[in-house]
Amino acid sequence: MKGDKHYDEIANEYKESKELSFRKVVEKYSINLMLGNIEGKDILDLACGEGIYSRMMKNEGAKSVFGVDISHEMIELAKKAEKENPIGCSYEVNDVFDFKPKKEFDIVTGFYLLNYAQTREDLKKMCQVLFNSIKKGGKFIGFNDNPMNKKENYGSYRKYGFIKETTPEREEGAFIKYTMFNHGEDGFTFNNYYLSEKTYEEVFKEVGFQNFKWVEGKLDPKEKGNPFWDDFMKDQPFIGMTAEKI
Ligand SMILES: C[S@@+](CC[C@H](N)C(=O)[O-])C[C@H]1O[C@@H](n2cnc3c(N)ncnc32)[C@H](O)[C@@H]1O
Repeated sequence: MKGDKHYDEIANEYKESKELSFRKVVEKYSINLMLGNIEGKDILDLACGEGIYSRMMKNEGAKSVFGVDISHEMIELAKKAEKENPIGCSYEVNDVFDFKPKKEFDIVTGFYLLNYAQTREDLKKMCQVLFNSIKKGGKFIGFNDNPMNKKENYGSYRKYGFIKETTPEREEGAFIKYTMFNHGEDGFTFNNYYLSEKTYEEVFKEVGFQNFKWVEGKLDPKEKGNPFWDDFMKDQPFIGMTAEKI
């Protein structure tokens, strides 16, 4: 086991942070656009957390959704939601670094997974797992900390409910500390790790993916013209990515 289980300590707060408005009007909206029509698809949701997007994908017509996360507490929340309202998602506690798929999937998703890779080698191991889990003709859809986000702006997202902090020098493997504020000034924290966009692009290619693309977040048209979102959208803290197995 290589990944860390910090989310066991922040599972409820993290779940609650999904109520912040950026989660809905940028994150969820952008993920949905990247997913497109998923009717009838078998989907593996790696780093599924408490299952928010696993449920969303099943409700949007996926044939099956299998969620995997290293955090026992996050998977407990996901299983609890499935028990309370059974929709046919299944979940397993596992480290992505150790994950061996029992079958291949049409789509593999990783929403805030790859930003846990601390080195190029870690990223390569994770990407190899993604690649091995996808059918030929299938794809990976991800959402991540944005390596192109200027670190000078890391402190500027407080009005959206979080800030980012990092080391003075931007170097491969540097931590990116998130503090999220669900209510008032009492924040909770977790770390992501910086790897350059070039490292991502090269590693996806090395493991055999084709057509790797960065996909900028999109603002839900319901918020169009609302200047509140200008700072968020002009230097986006998160970014989508897609890649194909041909
Ligand atoms: C920011 S949360 C995102 C959860 C979910 N995808 C979402 O968008 O709400 C990141 C998740 O990645 C999980 N994680 C981190 N490293 C992992 C690893 N090596 N294997 C499996 N899960 C991992 C954490 O436990 C946590 O639940």
